[in-house]
Amino acid sequence: MIIAIDGPAASGKSTTAQGVATRLGITYLDTGAMYRSITLGLMDHGISLRDLSSIEEFLNTVKIEFGDSNSGSKIYLNGRDITDKIRSTAVTEKVSVVSAIGVIRESMVQIQRKIGGNTDCVLEGRDIGTVVFPDADFKFFLVADVEVRARRRLKDLDELGEEQTIEEMIADIRCRDELDSTRDHSPLVKAEGAIEIDTGKLTIDGQIEKIVNIINQ
Ligand code: DC
Repeated sequence: MIIAIDGPAASGKSTTAQGVATRLGITYLDTGAMYRSITLGLMDHGISLRDLSSIEEFLNTVKIEFGDSNSGSKIYLNGRDITDKIRSTAVTEKVSVVSAIGVIRESMVQIQRKIGGNTDCVLEGRDIGTVVFPDADFKFFLVADVEVRARRRLKDLDELGEEQTIEEMIADIRCRDELDSTRDHSPLVKAEGAIEIDTGKLTIDGQIEKIVNIINQ
């Protein structure tokens, strides 16, 4: 079974998808974390986003792994725990540009299809219901008002010890929405047949419950 959960930045996808996967006892895959990991890796290696051959070389050697720990789920890039680093402002500022690069998308989609092909899975991202698994058993599209989303992201940043004003965050989110939904490769759009859920009007438990109920019906 494949459950696709797509939506714009900070629309509540991660918490909801994770909760739904736990309730159903199936795998959870955060595809945004994969694009963030590649962004961090390219930054750390000083690879220019215009240098496609170095990007391809990097993609051929890179290994992204997921794991669990007492403090929650972890993500590793070539064995290094990068869970917190991929949420930094530096990575967030670049990830929309990195994730618009065709060769990077092709490589990530291949990995995502392999994981989803081997196990029941909740995948969250931007293009799961449109490109990665257009025949997913269930498709959801989460939305929320930009101010609600900005407040959520500020809370996440606060936990990482970083600060930003609400105005800056709203501007950042609007900019990412624009880049994600107007790019040439797999732009963010609601998939055909996807059920839209406004998470601004629901609690986290309410969001999870709503989706689990639809799946169980
Ligand atoms: O959900 P997030 O904020 O962690 O996603 C980070 C970026 O990755 C976001 O700007 C869009 C991109 N992304 C994508 O293009 N396709 C996906 N399936 C998931 C994320």
